[in-house]
This record gives sequence, C-alpha cells and structure tokens, in this order.
Amino acid sequence: MKTGVCYYPEHWPEERWAQDAAQMRELGLSVVRIGEFAWSRLETRDGTLHLDWLQRAIDTLHAAGLSVVLGTPTATPPRWMLDKHPDMLAVDADGRIRDFGSRRHYCFSHEAYLAECRRIVEILARRFGQHPAIIAWQTDNEYGCHSTSISYSGHALAAFQRWCEARYGTIDLLNDAWGNVFWSMEYDNFEQIGLPVGNVTESNPSHQLAFWRFSSNQIARFNRAQCDIIREHSPGRDVVHNFMGNFVEFDHHEVSRDLDVATWDNYPLGFLTRDNGDATDQERYLRTGHPDGSAFHHDLYRGCCNGRWWVMEQQPGPVNWAPYNPAPLAGMVRLWGWEAFAHGAELMSYFRWRQAPFAQEQTHTGLLLSNGDADVAATELADLNRELADLASFSVEELRREAPGDASLDEPSTAEPAQQAPNETIDRLLGALPVHSDIAIIFSYAGNAIQDIQLPGGSTYSPLGFCQRVHSACRQWGANVDIIAPTAPLDNYRLVLVCSSTEDDPDLVSRLKAAHQQQQSVIVLFPGTGSRSSEYRIPDSLPPGHFEQLLPVQIIRSESLPTNELLSATGSTGRNRRCSQWREEVKSPVEPRMHFDDQWGFHYEQQGVHYINAIPDNNSLLSLLGELLEEAGIAGRDLGPWLRTQRIGPYRVAFNFGARPVELDKELGSLLDFHHDTPLLIGSRTLEQAQVAVWVAE
Ligand code: GAL
Repeated sequence: MKTGVCYYPEHWPEERWAQDAAQMRELGLSVVRIGEFAWSRLETRDGTLHLDWLQRAIDTLHAAGLSVVLGTPTATPPRWMLDKHPDMLAVDADGRIRDFGSRRHYCFSHEAYLAECRRIVEILARRFGQHPAIIAWQTDNEYGCHSTSISYSGHALAAFQRWCEARYGTIDLLNDAWGNVFWSMEYDNFEQIGLPVGNVTESNPSHQLAFWRFSSNQIARFNRAQCDIIREHSPGRDVVHNFMGNFVEFDHHEVSRDLDVATWDNYPLGFLTRDNGDATDQERYLRTGHPDGSAFHHDLYRGCCNGRWWVMEQQPGPVNWAPYNPAPLAGMVRLWGWEAFAHGAELMSYFRWRQAPFAQEQTHTGLLLSNGDADVAATELADLNRELADLASFSVEELRREAPGDASLDEPSTAEPAQQAPNETIDRLLGALPVHSDIAIIFSYAGNAIQDIQLPGGSTYSPLGFCQRVHSACRQWGANVDIIAPTAPLDNYRLVLVCSSTEDDPDLVSRLKAAHQQQQSVIVLFPGTGSRSSEYRIPDSLPPGHFEQLLPVQIIRSESLPTNELLSATGSTGRNRRCSQWREEVKSPVEPRMHFDDQWGFHYEQQGVHYINAIPDNNSLLSLLGELLEEAGIAGRDLGPWLRTQRIGPYRVAFNFGARPVELDKELGSLLDFHHDTPLLIGSRTLEQAQVAVWVAE
C-alpha cells in the first residue's frame, strides 16, 4: 500500500511548493491529489486559461519523485459560469435555488453545464494527459455530497420526462406500471409528469423509485462523459472517483462501471458522531471510530471495481463538519492506515496536507498545521510508512519456515527498510495483496432505496444500518467479508447473505441457485428480500417473489415495531432470539426453527437456504451469524465488541478499538491462525487500545 495526500498548490505561495514536496517525500508519501477545486484559477474568465501554474505544480511534485492524481474541477464551477448559465443551479425540495458561495452548485441535468465540463476536462486531459507524473484522474469530487444527488430544477423535470418516455414507451404503460389508477393519478402524456416532491401527502412510491433511478443515471452519465474524454487523451491512467461514507443516494455500482478504481473518503470520527444513533457506540468509540465503520466501507468499495480501491481522503485529526469533532486517540491515524492495508487498499491518502487558514474548513486538521509545522498525524503516518516498508522487506517463506517459536521476529525493524529511490515515478498503483473472503454480503443500492422509500421496519429502521449490523456480526466472529453488487459473481463464497435485495431479481435468484447447487453455498435471505418488483409493486406470487424458488416461503403479513418492543422467539433446543423493528408472518410447508409467543414462526431453512423473517437485536444477530458460519464451515471465534482482525495475503492484522488492553493469547486461543508461539511482525501480544498486531497467517 502506498500513502498519499490531498494538496492545494493554489492555496500556497509557489516558492513553498518544492519544500512541501520534499517534506512529503520525507514522510514516505508517494502520491498527491491536486486540482479538484481549482477551476477559478485555471480559467479566470470564460475561455481565459491559465494552465502554466498547474504544469509547474505537477513538475515540482514530479521532480521530488511524487506521482499525481489530477482532479477535474467540475464540483466548483467559477462565478462567471453562472453569468453564462444562470439556470444551471440545482433546486432543493422546498424550491430554493442552491446558490453560488460554496461548492457543488450545479444540476446534473443541465446540458450546457455538462458541455462546459466536457470542455474543461478535455483541455486538462489534452494538456496533462501524458505527463509522466500523472497516474490517475479523479472525476469531480464526492458526487452527491451536501445532498446534491437530486435536483428539482426545470432541467431535471424535463430530463425526467424524457427518461420516463424512454423507459416506458407509452404513457399507458407508465400509468399501469406505477398503479396510477390508485388515487386518480393517471397522466395523459409525459409532459404532465411532475417530480415527486411537494405533494399533499406521500408521493407514489413507484414515482419516487423512478426518480431515484433517474437521478442515479444522471450522475453516472455525467461521470461517464468525463471518463470517456480522459481515456481518450490520457490512456493508461486510472480513472477514479471519491465516494463517501454512509451514503446511498445513488447506485455506486452503476457509477463504478466506468471507473478503474473505486476510492472513498474516510472520516471515522465524523461518521460516528454524525451518523451513529447508538449512545453506547458514541461514547465508547468517540476517539477511535466504530470498529466496523471503516471496515464496512473498505469491503463495500473493494466490491465496486473488481477489487481495486483506495482511500482518497483520510481523517488526520479533528474535522469541521460533524456535530462534534473530537481528536482521534494517539495511535488511531496509524491504526486506520493498517486497517486500509488489511482490507486491500492500494493507496491511503490523507486529507489534507496543510490546515487552511482561510475559508470554510479552518478547523479541519491536516498533516501540517496552518503555519507549516508538522501536526500529530504526520508523525503517525511516518511510523506507518516505516512499518509498511519493514513488512515488505520480510520474506514470508522464511517466516513460515522459522515460525513458530522464533522470537527474533519480534524485532523486525533490524531489516533494511525498502526505500523508494528519489525521483522514481510509480507507473501505476496496481497490486495490493489479495483479500480472500468466504462470506459475501449482497448489497443492492436500488433495494436499499426501495426500503428507504416506504420504511418497512418503522421510522427507526435503517436498511443500510441493518446491513452494517450484519457485517459487524460477521467481523465479530473474526471473518473477512466481501460486500458485492447483486450482479457480482458468487464463486467461492461459502456463505451468501442477502441483506438489501428488496427488488425481486430473477437473475440474482438463478445465480444464487447455481451457487447453492454447484458449490453448496449457504444462502441467507433477510426480511424484505424480493418484496417489490422493479416498479415498486408487490410480486403477484407475494414476497419474496422469485426468491421463493430457493425455498418455499410466502410472506403473508409484515409488521413494524418500535425498537424497545422486543419479541422473543424460542426453539426446541431452548435457544432464543430477540427481534424488534420488523417482523414478517410466513406461510410455508417448512417447519420454522423457532416460534414467537404468538406462534408466528421464526427462521425458516431448507437444505442450506435460510429465510430470516425478523430483525434480530445485536446479541441475537451475533449468535445467529455464529450458527450460520458454523453451518457454512467457516471457523470463527467471538472477538467481543472491539477486537477486530482481517486476513490479507499471507498476513493477519489485529486491531484494538476498545478502552481495555486485549491479551491476544487469551482472546484468540489457537484460532484465527494464532498460537501462543506465533511470532508477531508488528505489535505485542498485549494489544493496547489503538494498537495493531500483524503476524503471518497459516
Ligand atoms: C470531503 C471533501 C473534501 C473536504 C473534506 C473535509 O467531504 O471531499 O473536499 O471538504 O470532506 O472533511
């Protein structure tokens, strides 16, 4: 794994650039992302270009031996653009124009703005596309950030009407697909169709889903336009985009089809304080982030571009945008780096090089303070880079021969660190170590949207949150997990967990069937699977629609419950599971494994295909997953809430997110390739909070 940083040469005097570049090298950084917000300096007036400064910045970085990821500046159209295209701004749900003065002020459906983007991207790609320093291009910046996936502008409306015409062909077919007869919502022509906003009560869910799909398509189209131009003028370079955390407003699998690498922006403490509703988690992980928060997204984005993924922006210290912005515990910057390595990142890049003394993000830390002195993260990053170099210098074969029992391996730093020669340019960042997982979670963005539109588990239920809880439970059993698209191959998985495939998807059903029959994968369907057609209707055969081909169940009723209403299901062995939020009543010839007090069944299984018809609480989910792992023949051990491990290539890495030290000998026993005499390459057997241990797995 290489490390990198996000840098804004346009914010600093040119005389400083060479010193910055030299300092970056000293810290072991090899990649720098620049340019993504620089449009007003690249084109000061319409057609007045100033590209020479960017050339000099790239040359300076190159001369220091740094590689460059060049961002396209389309997330920040300059002020003159608005004089030219006053109607290019997005409109929010209340009809307000999302005006100039920050960023992302554009509507994805504005054709003339898209043409401007094509123009500037082509100018940049022609000028810099062959520069030896440039290894990749980032399109735009964080599509959808600040609620910008959706716009209710006149341009969006017109484009949506055309989109509906292309999808449905005739207005009668659209009326039929959406069930518009329901409240006399039928249209006579496509021009009458509005956007699903501002209605007296809930808009038709079919209409909402169609608009979600349209908005997602518009983002993919916008992105594709840039990718095509870049590929034409800058062949051989990776095209990437930086996605976000806890963000499902468009289909990332769809956008990723045009990318070489999925990258994402990881702010573990910001995500915890902004997005996690659990008071215990908030308190316990305030300065470490949730133990599975980063891991979930690493695993999700690894599944977007055939395994190739980076962290493009990594939190270095307090950020500026969450309700509270605590400083990470000492050690966490290093730990997050090891975590990205362990999940197979090719690059870990920090946001940002130097704290900005002006404008919106003044309280957002960087690797350097605003005066240019090193901040805490710089030191931890330098340690990480030294250790990664040490690790690369070990011969795993030798370690395997010597281990177990060779205590000398506890002192790895005597080995020569693998130094990178100055001025050596990296051609491409291909080649993280492979991550093998026996477990796949199928994540469907459309399925998630279907659940979000009419929350089946009540207002406290989050479909994404449930998926994260399932992932977390697998991680607590010490397992590697892949999170994959509904269209991804299922080869080699022993356990396939279908969490969010609410959309009745015959193609997925046939591939699940094949995986089950040909490689005996254990298949698990969670509540809501297949419960709506792609047009948002209940399948004619009742839920789970085509998934019924996998096991004979029919959902005849679905109820939502408050989180504190815990229902207990008991089985013949005396085992019990507690569920809340969402429960389904199942009709099936199969005898359920358990029953609730009111005799609704719970947990149906036939020959290795499971239907879980309620939402278990955390403890029940953990023991349910334990049972499923066992049935799938996957070794696991309950690591408790805050110890986590990940297997990567020949190594296993362990992380302690909890306040108490963990004795690895005690907690791991002889499981997870760890024995009392397993030598550690990094770390110690008493794993303190925010510390990492690495060993060679069997
Ligand atoms: C990201 C964004 C960056 C910066 C950062 C601050 O969402 O891509 O430009 O604003 O947040 O944490």
